[in-house]
Amino acid sequence: MESRKILVTSALPYANGSIHLGHLVEYIQTDIWVRLQKMCGHHCVYVCADDAHGTPIMLRAQQEGIKPEELIAKTKAEHEADFSEFLVDFDNFHSTHSEENRQFAEDTFKKLQDKNLINTRSVVDLFDPEQKVFLPDRFVRGTCPKCKAEDQYGDNCEACGATYTPADLIDPHSALSGATPVEKENLHYFFQLGKLEEELKTWTQSNSLQPEISNKISEWFEDGLKDWDISRDAPYFGFEIPGAAGKYFYVWLDAPIGYMASFKNYCDRSGEDFDAYWKADSETELYHFIGKDIAYFHTLFWPATLMGAGYRKPTNVFCHGFLMINGQKMSKSRGTFIKARTYLNHLQPEYLRYYFAAKLGPGVNDLDLNLDDFQQRVNSDVVGKLVNIASRCAGFISKKFDAKLSASFSTECKQAFAAASAANEEIKAHYEQRRYAEAIRSIMKIADQTNQLIDQYKPWEKIKDENCRQEVHQICSFGINMFRLLIGYLKPVLPELAGKAEDFFNDELTWADLASGETLPEGHTITKFKPLMTRIESDKIEAMIEETKQQASTQATAVAASDPIDSEISFDDFAKLDLRVARISKAELVEGADKLLQLTLDLGEATGGLQKNVFAGIKSAYSPAELEGKLVVMVANLAARKMRFGLSEGMVLAASGDDSGLFVIHPDSGAEAGMRVK
Ligand code: 2FM
Ligand code: ZN
Repeated sequence: MESRKILVTSALPYANGSIHLGHLVEYIQTDIWVRLQKMCGHHCVYVCADDAHGTPIMLRAQQEGIKPEELIAKTKAEHEADFSEFLVDFDNFHSTHSEENRQFAEDTFKKLQDKNLINTRSVVDLFDPEQKVFLPDRFVRGTCPKCKAEDQYGDNCEACGATYTPADLIDPHSALSGATPVEKENLHYFFQLGKLEEELKTWTQSNSLQPEISNKISEWFEDGLKDWDISRDAPYFGFEIPGAAGKYFYVWLDAPIGYMASFKNYCDRSGEDFDAYWKADSETELYHFIGKDIAYFHTLFWPATLMGAGYRKPTNVFCHGFLMINGQKMSKSRGTFIKARTYLNHLQPEYLRYYFAAKLGPGVNDLDLNLDDFQQRVNSDVVGKLVNIASRCAGFISKKFDAKLSASFSTECKQAFAAASAANEEIKAHYEQRRYAEAIRSIMKIADQTNQLIDQYKPWEKIKDENCRQEVHQICSFGINMFRLLIGYLKPVLPELAGKAEDFFNDELTWADLASGETLPEGHTITKFKPLMTRIESDKIEAMIEETKQQASTQATAVAASDPIDSEISFDDFAKLDLRVARISKAELVEGADKLLQLTLDLGEATGGLQKNVFAGIKSAYSPAELEGKLVVMVANLAARKMRFGLSEGMVLAASGDDSGLFVIHPDSGAEAGMRVK
């Protein structure tokens, strides 16, 4: 068999958040595929990186009071630890904020320019008139045009999920200064995708993309390929565009280039030949595993970038659906927005790897992690069926047969083993085509048949009869050989368990071993069997959910605590207040009112001797006599309100703690009635 050369990627996770179970669907799916290829003897390299650029990362670093570089370094360490514990075995994990990526991004851009694929034109952007900068969508905040939730980002509403442009916001304001943004012409760089339409069509048609994705692409072609805006203005965390001060590559331009950068970084330390994988006529294979939400970027923008810059195109792009938990979207309040780390605090990673594999197909359907089904399925398949085969047989081999296997079997067992080994072709094809659920079904069918055969022979009874010794030796050796085959088939999914089993067999399993139809030789010694996997206990799942809920509530408290001031108002809102110094010319008790005093406020000569009648809730703290003649601060332009006792034409400012009294605000000496308070 000729060995293939394959380069595989998973989408690059953003460097401003933790890995959660939703992410893991993809990394586990890819890792299984890569492990299968390696086990089959192909040369397969799996690279990834953190996606470190863009406004959200810059904002997150600001919130944490650290530099973006510190944030991305911290996140990278966290991501790498999570992946490694979930047994996601990258050959390289890099960052898009790297020298390699800068070079590839700049070089790619230059190649696109040389081919006349980049143009510039003015676009009307929002501009902060005080800070004198263009505002990225996320730097404009305002009221959601759909659900009217206040203080939402300029690109989408966190309350109702609506997406829109900053211009659609009600009362938009700059997150930098509070100023109302103004529209201003701004120069942008565009990638003219339309010029590559024919080449892109050929690529999409000549590849066996998933049907759902092909259909989507056809729709995009029907709508016409628009120029893609690839520049963003400072403030931005990314790479500055050479020759365009203050302009940066949009994060989605340099993110997929990060696949190349990570691979280059790998080549530099492993001696792999970069060009062999990326030159236009490369004979190697290139596969991207991604979520369906970013298909547009990977099946249009990315191939176009590669074409334009003279590189090879992807062999295929494999899209998967989203993760649901208990039939619903992951949710913080339900405790199902489960981080990788939280899961690891309670449960073994291979439980999840097995469950995802048992449910993954080649399409873009969403995958449901039903927690009861998860527990039941893993316990019944892996512990109850698979590991059980070894536990039933290994003890007898060790204790009664000096840990040595027999290599002669009954005809029935021989046939069962031959059939199970022949199934390797079908199982391998299932994996290769990402029909993991089918692969697991085929494997578990073999496990069921094996258990049935062992049940028929009943070695635990026959062992009592000295005449049946040989029969027991044979059936238990058969069981161990079947277990070895099954573990081999599951090795891409359960690499740690397979590793422990390999120690037990004293050999390392390749796909060729599984396909050979050979059993272990007569007299092969097994080591002492230790339980390979224990059952999932309900309390562990409950504890994981509980911890996730706790995180959500701690997070909410932290947000509240870090923001003791009420939601902000714009300067314009503030400027609407007409605050004035006024003299209390008269203060009286109000009959029938527990809390109110009636004040006559004199606004002085500056206002032509204006007098206002105000009912103020300060009776608990002041007697009328002590107030008369004093200067206070009032809101003079508050619309008059009709109260039970009369018309109130303003408001007097007073300080108050929750239950620590009331203190009317007085201006310093020298102030006069009628003065503005600013
Ligand atoms: O959607 C995302 O999470 C992106 N960070 C994926 C980038 S994949 C590649 F293009 F870099
Ligand atoms: Zn909304």
